[in-house]
Amino acid sequence: MSASRGQWSSTIGFILAAAGSAIGLGNIWRFPYVAGENGGAAFVLVYLICVFLIGLPYLLAELALGRATQKNPIGAIHSIRPNSSWVLVGILGVLTGFAILSYYAVIAGWTFGYIFKMLFNLQVSFGEFISKPWLNIFLTFLFIFFTIMVVIGGVQDGIERWSKILMPLLLILMIVLIIRSVTLDGAGKGLVFYLKPDFSKITGKVILEAMGQAFFSLSLGMGLMVTYGSYLPKEENLFQAGFWVVIFDTAIAIMAGLIIFPAIFAGGVKPDAGPTLIFIALPTIFSNMPLGNIVGAIFFLLLSIAALTSTISLLEVPVAYVVDEKRIARKIAVWLVGGVTFLVGVPSALSQGAVPFLSNLNILGQKSFLDLMDFLWGNLSLSIGALSLSIFIGYVWKTKNAVQEIAQGFELFRKPLLGKISLASLWSILIRFIVPIFIFIILLNVFNVF
Ligand code: PHE
Repeated sequence: MSASRGQWSSTIGFILAAAGSAIGLGNIWRFPYVAGENGGAAFVLVYLICVFLIGLPYLLAELALGRATQKNPIGAIHSIRPNSSWVLVGILGVLTGFAILSYYAVIAGWTFGYIFKMLFNLQVSFGEFISKPWLNIFLTFLFIFFTIMVVIGGVQDGIERWSKILMPLLLILMIVLIIRSVTLDGAGKGLVFYLKPDFSKITGKVILEAMGQAFFSLSLGMGLMVTYGSYLPKEENLFQAGFWVVIFDTAIAIMAGLIIFPAIFAGGVKPDAGPTLIFIALPTIFSNMPLGNIVGAIFFLLLSIAALTSTISLLEVPVAYVVDEKRIARKIAVWLVGGVTFLVGVPSALSQGAVPFLSNLNILGQKSFLDLMDFLWGNLSLSIGALSLSIFIGYVWKTKNAVQEIAQGFELFRKPLLGKISLASLWSILIRFIVPIFIFIILLNVFNVF
């Protein structure tokens, strides 16, 4: 291990950083609108099953691979199967981190801009806001700049220190907003929609949407957790760490719904409004609330914080690769990768009305350049990556090696519990059969086979 590699100083530091990666726009912006479009409580139920049956076991697999090899995804695969084409899976992961960051920063830039829109009560519609060319380029730049400043600090002084401050702050702000939202007049209908499942709403599409959301939300499928796992000391309990990450990520998504659904039902907005849900519905609702400007500004501040801890992790994956394999100083690597990401993000920033050509691409059923990037990288590439990585870990690296890594720091993993079944054997079955088959089905869904 080269001296330039970092390590988490404590388990809690790791858990907060990994939960910070997982918790982001995916939980607060995407989860409520996807749940709203897919039947509310029924979707939530299926989502929970997917998270614990597929997400958690696969997360453990990525963490184990990372800690065993102490490498970024490309280096990890290379050290298990040198010079094989499996390395392509690692390369895809590094490229995916870079590509997701390029458009994720655009949406994160909107949330940052909305703090000021709310605070100063600026009279500009969402449509106008996202179509202003220089404003969007500037906000994307600013968000990537913030990300660079944190990542440059390295694993302990940058990512871990900031996560320890930002994540608890996020939690407190969300609790305040839940209390505000559920005490609004007419909030009850929102709670029923969100929490009382109508089982007839569960369809194949709902299950597949829930699976995709679980992967995106837990930051799985691109080797990000391989990278984060590589900074974990050997004596730490991987199972426990992974378990808490899943609990935090899921709790924040559920809490986001508790803010959004009571508020939109109280404001008479339809729950299936789609991706614009929080940006259009919530400001309208906030504007009819006492101290609405401040509450709204706090909400978008919170969303920016959540997005920042995700963009930090997205930048870390390509940076770790460049630092590990190309032996470039961390500082230079961060500026280099961050700078190129910004340039790649510009067309996404201009694709919401600023440049007509980029806004109406209509390629692969995706309207704008940003939609196309999200489909290709946030959807397709994550699914392909997760499928290939679970096969690589289950069959090439072999589950017995992974089990050995997980059991280090958690001996109970291998002990027979109920009857003769140990957690380890249960996990091996999940990772070799259930997980890849499930992901394969998602992939077919992405290709619109159904
Ligand atoms: N999990 C993040 C979110 O929910 C997004 C993300 C995906 C981050 C993949 C890293 C890797 O917003």
